[in-house]
Amino acid sequence: MKLRPAVTALAVATTVFVGSVATAQDFTNQIGARQGMFKMNGVSIGILAGIARGRIDYDAELAQAAADNLVNVSQFNQAPLWPEGSDSDAVATTAALPAIWENYDDFLSKFADFGTAALAIQAVAGDGAGAIGGALGGLGATCGACHDAYQKSR
Ligand code: HEC
Repeated sequence: MKLRPAVTALAVATTVFVGSVATAQDFTNQIGARQGMFKMNGVSIGILAGIARGRIDYDAELAQAAADNLVNVSQFNQAPLWPEGSDSDAVATTAALPAIWENYDDFLSKFADFGTAALAIQAVAGDGAGAIGGALGGLGATCGACHDAYQKSR
């Protein structure tokens, strides 16, 4: 009988602990996933810009793969990657500004603009370095438009 209060106290402590773990906001996976997604874009645009500027020899297969990957990234549904509270004011490891959640439709529309530009460069990736160069500015502008508004400068 003496044990009862101790057991009860332990049960209460366990409930409080588990409860606090369940409500703690840990966005490590979402932030890592979206940063990895954008790192993919960095690799792809690095290849396409390198080809356009003559630093990488034109290789139709490599150019197509990079452009295809941009399109593939643009088709990821963004909803799971941007939970409320995973902004740069709340979490030190992200550069995603709180403005994203205040202007979420605009953010998604800028992501859609990137998708349109990715399709445009995908369509000409097989046509040589000049054609890639012609589409690159439009693509880069869509990255920049979103970064200017929504990425914290480090
Ligand atoms: C709709 C908005 C949007 C578009 C479009 C966009 N980005 Fe970003 N990008 C972001 C945000 C927001 C972050 C910060 C993500 C974070 O830290 O959680 C980011 C981060 C990055 C990073 C850093 C990733 C890291 O943490 O190492 C790179 C590289 C990058 N973007 C490249 C690109 C390129 C290249 C394009 C275009 C082909 C592009 N992005 C298009 C919003 C965008």
